[in-house]
Amino acid sequence: MSQPPLSFPADFLWGVSTSAYQIEGAWNEEGKGPSIWDTFTHTPGHVVNHDTGDVACDHYHRWRADVDLLHDLGVQAYRFSVSWPRILPAGRGQVNQAGLDFYDRLVDALLEKGLQPFLTLYHWDLPQALQDRGGWPARETVSAFAEYARVVGERLSDRVRWWTTHNEPFVAAVLGHFTGEHAPGIRDARAALQAAHHLLLSHGEAAHVLRAAARRPIQVGIALNLQPVYPASGAVEDAQAARRFDGLLNRWFLSPLYHGTYPEDMLEQVGPLAPAVQPGDLARIAAPLDFLGVNYYSRFLARHNLEQPVLHVEQVQAPQAETSLMWEIYPAGLQELLEQVWRDYRPGALFVTENGIPLADAPDATGEVQDPGRIDFLRRHLERARQVSAAGIPLRGYMVWSFLDNFEWALGYQMRFGLVYVDFATQRRIPKASARWYSQVARQTT
Ligand code: FCB
Repeated sequence: MSQPPLSFPADFLWGVSTSAYQIEGAWNEEGKGPSIWDTFTHTPGHVVNHDTGDVACDHYHRWRADVDLLHDLGVQAYRFSVSWPRILPAGRGQVNQAGLDFYDRLVDALLEKGLQPFLTLYHWDLPQALQDRGGWPARETVSAFAEYARVVGERLSDRVRWWTTHNEPFVAAVLGHFTGEHAPGIRDARAALQAAHHLLLSHGEAAHVLRAAARRPIQVGIALNLQPVYPASGAVEDAQAARRFDGLLNRWFLSPLYHGTYPEDMLEQVGPLAPAVQPGDLARIAAPLDFLGVNYYSRFLARHNLEQPVLHVEQVQAPQAETSLMWEIYPAGLQELLEQVWRDYRPGALFVTENGIPLADAPDATGEVQDPGRIDFLRRHLERARQVSAAGIPLRGYMVWSFLDNFEWALGYQMRFGLVYVDFATQRRIPKASARWYSQVARQTT
């Protein structure tokens, strides 16, 4: 077995990530309201194999055993998300105590086992009741999110130190409202950019509300899916295409958060599709943050193509690229990305909040799951993270996506990202070889 990389700071937080809809199941139990992902998956044609998150990993019922597994893994942090419609079934108003109690117990169990809860408020499961009133393109959803943040903050901020408002607002906005691959399945560029603005604004509002509600000092951040974007060739048109895609994927989110402005070149590019912004919005979005979470999976190679809508950018595959089931494997991109983000935005602290690989894992004749490809992927990315940390950039932690095999959105259960194998027929969990390898890594600094 290859050696874990050494020499991260002693207080480096090693963790694993999940999200509510992808693992919890219990989609209509104990007062939970429906989310846009319940509606989306219950409508045929959206998800491979008609898979849904109705049961998923049944974590809602098996959470205690899952916390034991996390403890066995030896990680110091567990990144999970709270299901908004479990807390506020209609999106706002009436609070469902049973939902709050679930996360209350989970947090206590994590702390008892010496694990730091790293809580995400929104990982894409908007209450359907809010979607019915316009969803993220409607400004009303911003105040509903602030209300939700206050309810969760008041209940858990005495014990939870790490708070992330949103997970990947780009994906929620663009895949949810422009390509339609994700819930709510809308295909409208203007709605996507308005949704992105409201996601950012609601982040700012929630950060403010959380700090006001907190009963102890808390750390507030946001997790973005960032990718270094490179031109597919030496042609000037491709360099310009890369700049445009970087403008939407990375700068459209980083620039308002850290500079209080949308990028000028992109406002020009999107023209009449630009979102309606009210006075004060950008100042609210740019309120100081404690950390930035970076979800990194791969790089993006851009080619100019006039047939592509809005940005005229086509994604191309690198020739001879090493690929997983989904994306090119490109560890150098993690280092380049973190260095670039540090140079351009100077976040107070950085976390890799997601990094991982889908493989066609299966138990062998002895019942073990061997996943050398995942160990290799993680080792190579951690080596890059180590170089970033050694260069003095404040990288404070790293979290593998994912703790468990789970529901991978439009791709259903065929994409196994977990350190722990889940047999979805029996709900049996089998820690993979990568889980044992990662335990060694996580324990080295404790
Ligand atoms: C990220 C999501 C996460 C998971 C991984 C593979 O975009 O945040 O929920 O689906 O991709």
